[in-house]
Amino acid sequence: VDLKPFNTMALAAPAAHFVQAETDAQLREALLLAEREGWQVTLLGGGSNMILAGPVTGLVVRVASRGRRVLSRGREQVLIEAEAGESWHQLVCWALDLGLSGIENLALIPGTVGAAPVQNIGAYGVELCDCLDSVQALDRQTGELCWFDRGQCDFAYRDSRFKREAGRYVILRVRLRLWRRPRLAVDYAPLAEAWRATGLQAADARVVAALVMRIRQSKLPDPLTLPNAGSFFKNPVVPVDQAQRLAERFPSMPQYAQAGGGVKLAAAWLIDQAGWKGFRDGAAGVHSEQALVLVNHGGATGAQILALAARIRADVLTRYGVELEQEPPVVGAAALP
Ligand code: EPU
Repeated sequence: VDLKPFNTMALAAPAAHFVQAETDAQLREALLLAEREGWQVTLLGGGSNMILAGPVTGLVVRVASRGRRVLSRGREQVLIEAEAGESWHQLVCWALDLGLSGIENLALIPGTVGAAPVQNIGAYGVELCDCLDSVQALDRQTGELCWFDRGQCDFAYRDSRFKREAGRYVILRVRLRLWRRPRLAVDYAPLAEAWRATGLQAADARVVAALVMRIRQSKLPDPLTLPNAGSFFKNPVVPVDQAQRLAERFPSMPQYAQAGGGVKLAAAWLIDQAGWKGFRDGAAGVHSEQALVLVNHGGATGAQILALAARIRADVLTRYGVELEQEPPVVGAAALP
């Protein structure tokens, strides 16, 4: 099976074996088969946060379970549950239709519900961990089903225990605690600006979702028209003294002091200032509106994308002394040069 239709970067590479699992039973069956055959297992959700570097050996399991439901209604909050294979954005729309608030800032994030906790998706001042109640996963080490409450997920910026122990857990379903009354988070600079422009004092979650979608669409390429995997690098956190030296040399550099110490820098700014925005080498390019997003102009290979990323990393390191960490994991073996 060619995995090109299954990753938003539209990179072509074959999977030795491929199955879609729509139920827990099918998923267990697929994992058993892989164990019997000695195949390595690669899990796939929406394929929106991975770089396919080459052929994938073993078994690729696409999690395609569907379903979402309201579990309980409290006075202030509502507990909802969704299957891992559901589209994240569709879940956001469904919650908005129910009049619920909490995930409106996460509208239009590509990918599935099951992948969302892995990298603790976040945008416009909200992270998934802010409203996550719990996650049910299959522990491949013990074969057992387990529930993780929010604390047990070990969430951090673009990180979780599911990402740190990659391959161990298969997320089956996710529970979120959402608000019945609007709990709007409109402090994130570009969103705050759009919010002020509306002149509203109060609004429902749908209004904020609409603003977020408009901002995203103006900056981030739609994977269907310009294939990409979202932010290619994490925003780096550097020690305070290094941040101070950088601020002296580059007075306009955005810096955000972190609660736990350290200063977060904007990777997009570093890449942009280094002159890479809109750069193109064959089919591999840097998006013209957001320097943090690498794009496939058509027919790029994973190796070409990774080669461009390596050039950008090296250049940013030379110019600023800052190490960029790649965000989407690499899947498959790169062909030998
Ligand atoms: N900037 C530039 N040049 C650019 C783009 C941005 O100088 O080409 C500057 C902006 O002016 C701003 C700063 O960089 O001062 C940050 O930019 P932005 O607000 O666009 O956010 P980001 O830090 O680049 C992060 C997330 C995005 C998320 C946005 C909005 C990461 C790695 N990325 O990007 O998430 O949508 O904030 O909250 O944290 C993703 O993870 O795939 C993703 C798209």
